[in-house]
Amino acid sequence: MGVDAPRILIGAEELATGVARLGAEISAAYGDGVVLVAVLKGSAVFLADLVRAMTVVPHVDFLAISPYAPGTGRVQLLKDLEIDIAGRDVVLVEDIVDTGLTATYILGELARRSPRSLAACALLDRRTTRIVPTPLAFVGFSVGTEFLVGYGLDFSERYRNLDMVAVGDIPTLQNDRDAYVKALYGR
Ligand code: IMP
Ligand code: MG
Repeated sequence: MGVDAPRILIGAEELATGVARLGAEISAAYGDGVVLVAVLKGSAVFLADLVRAMTVVPHVDFLAISPYAPGTGRVQLLKDLEIDIAGRDVVLVEDIVDTGLTATYILGELARRSPRSLAACALLDRRTTRIVPTPLAFVGFSVGTEFLVGYGLDFSERYRNLDMVAVGDIPTLQNDRDAYVKALYGR
């Protein structure tokens, strides 16, 4: 089957400009270097571009968590950091902060380890659907309520490798998770 390509919300050039700004902001704030804690898997694409936009030494480490399940009240840590962040300046790197539940859980987990400082950076900030207040020191773009794919964001593991952020139509994707594959990848 297949449908038309999804609407582009943030194009590749605009993304690059935003990521360059974030890299400069983080570099200016942490002259002695910084630990970037990225959340798998959605943040991987953003992180790769972010570190290349930085002019201070980034120490990169990864966390993996189970998705927040409504009703359970918490997410679970599936993969922990490899480094000890005690006494370090730490920035959590997120693809998108929506309800804020995921970022808040992780920030709480990181804070317990006594970092020297702790801040959060989100490429995309969906403020209108926030459930818990989540202070974000570094924000790329504010977005609305649309479901987004691309630049790390997936639907059922599709579309992460798009160089743009596009609006996914949920009913269309639920009907066929490959709905945009033909239009986007030519197959
Ligand atoms: P939160 O706990 O509601 O803030 O959820 C944030 C996480 O949900 C993100 O890190 C994404 O993995 C996922 N997410 C939220 N909105 C979207 C979206 O529009 N597209 C794809 N994934 C999303
Ligand atoms: Mg995420």
